Amino acid sequence: MGKIISKFVCHECGYETPKWLGKCPGCSAWNSLLEESISNKPLRRTAERVAAIPLNQLSAEDSPRFSSGLSEFDRVLGGGIVPGSLILLGGDPGIGKSTLLLQVAGLIAAAGKRILYLSGEESLQQIRLRASRLGINNDTIFLLNEQDIDLLHEYINDLDPDLIIIDSIQTVYSSKLSSIPGSVSQLRESTAAVMQIAKKMDKAVFLVGHVTKDGSLAGPKVLEHIVDVVVYFEGEKNFSFRLLRAAKNRFGATDEIALLEMSGQGLVEVPDPSYVFLSPGRDISSGTAIVASMEGSRPLLIEIQALVSSLGAGYPRRMVSGIDQNRLSLIIAVLEKRRGYTLSACDVYLKVSGGVFLKDPSVDLGIAAAVLSSYLEKPLAMDTVFIGEISLSGQIRPVSFLDLRLREIDRMGYKRVIVPTSPGRLAKSSHNMEILEVKSLDHFIDIVL
Ligand code: TYD
Ligand code: MG
Repeated sequence: MGKIISKFVCHECGYETPKWLGKCPGCSAWNSLLEESISNKPLRRTAERVAAIPLNQLSAEDSPRFSSGLSEFDRVLGGGIVPGSLILLGGDPGIGKSTLLLQVAGLIAAAGKRILYLSGEESLQQIRLRASRLGINNDTIFLLNEQDIDLLHEYINDLDPDLIIIDSIQTVYSSKLSSIPGSVSQLRESTAAVMQIAKKMDKAVFLVGHVTKDGSLAGPKVLEHIVDVVVYFEGEKNFSFRLLRAAKNRFGATDEIALLEMSGQGLVEVPDPSYVFLSPGRDISSGTAIVASMEGSRPLLIEIQALVSSLGAGYPRRMVSGIDQNRLSLIIAVLEKRRGYTLSACDVYLKVSGGVFLKDPSVDLGIAAAVLSSYLEKPLAMDTVFIGEISLSGQIRPVSFLDLRLREIDRMGYKRVIVPTSPGRLAKSSHNMEILEVKSLDHFIDIVL
């Protein structure tokens, strides 16, 4: 008989300590350590020994995937759902996780598959109501109001589903532990149990996980390393567009994104996202520039707006949404040092349209163009797209996937694009637009502003 011991676990990062601390040494969060009791009974081995297999005797075929019914979602998953995989769908409460998975269940059921939907959050009646609103009515979607994860394999044996949806991991528990559902040890234990079932029974499982900022429930961060795929569902609640982003994928590339729109009939795919991030009927105004940012394997054309105003009281303000604030500061410092613009005597506000967060360094040039355009009160031509990374020395550095970006810009009907100099690498003749190569900020400012 093992004895029960207690320990303190950080619900932000999973750090463990035998005594309570105000600040977590792992992630520096305050007040995040919760007491959990665990049994230190050793795990019992039940399985027989298995023989190791030589690598070349294993089949090298790609696992057969099946479609989620939404081609955009499939792309984020790396080409569809892999049987035997565990996929974590994380996101803020109310963002649409349950809606998305119920829709996927409906589409997969229509393709002749069986789905087990385990809900610990909503009553079956609530799910039924949502399903009828979404037009889903299949006899191969089985709903269950169950929170005990140890019974999962029995339900799977009975129903033989192809896909299992667990909504959400924070509401289920394993009776092997005494801690409450949603605590870090329960999250870990239940996820590991589900993972084992997924692998052993070769079933694909979606796990819903809430991300909460106030920390009342442990975030899915502590689960990321256990599962096969992590997909985050992001967006602003009062904005109808939602982004799906793969943060980890054992079966495909990460950083693929998909754009969905929340409508009265649930989530709808947006196959041509570039149209969404550009304001319709744009008029010429200073401070607006268009950039082509690579999001996964796809270039997106996005509008950046800057407002430079004379300094209010105190320190200059730098308010940014959609890019890292340090990047804006860096670009402002380069503009000030290399060209002598006195931006340190100004407040600078910068906004990326559509609520996306841009990490691609190629948007530097667009940021600089928007800031300078507002500072100098000179509107930029609205048929122009800016591509280029700015180095500290004021050079414009080459970017990756230039050809892909140019094709998208051409397709969207732009007439002019500013790109970094890349001798011999540009096939200008294949596009209908003017392509201007710039080598430095000086060169750029001379020809554009
Ligand atoms: P939900 O899927 O319950 O979010 P989560 O599971 O991530 O907590 O999404 C709920 C929100 O979506 C709710 O505010 C209502 C909205 N919604 C629509 O706008 N249209 C719809 O067709 C549905 C089903 C929900
Ligand atoms: Mg939900």
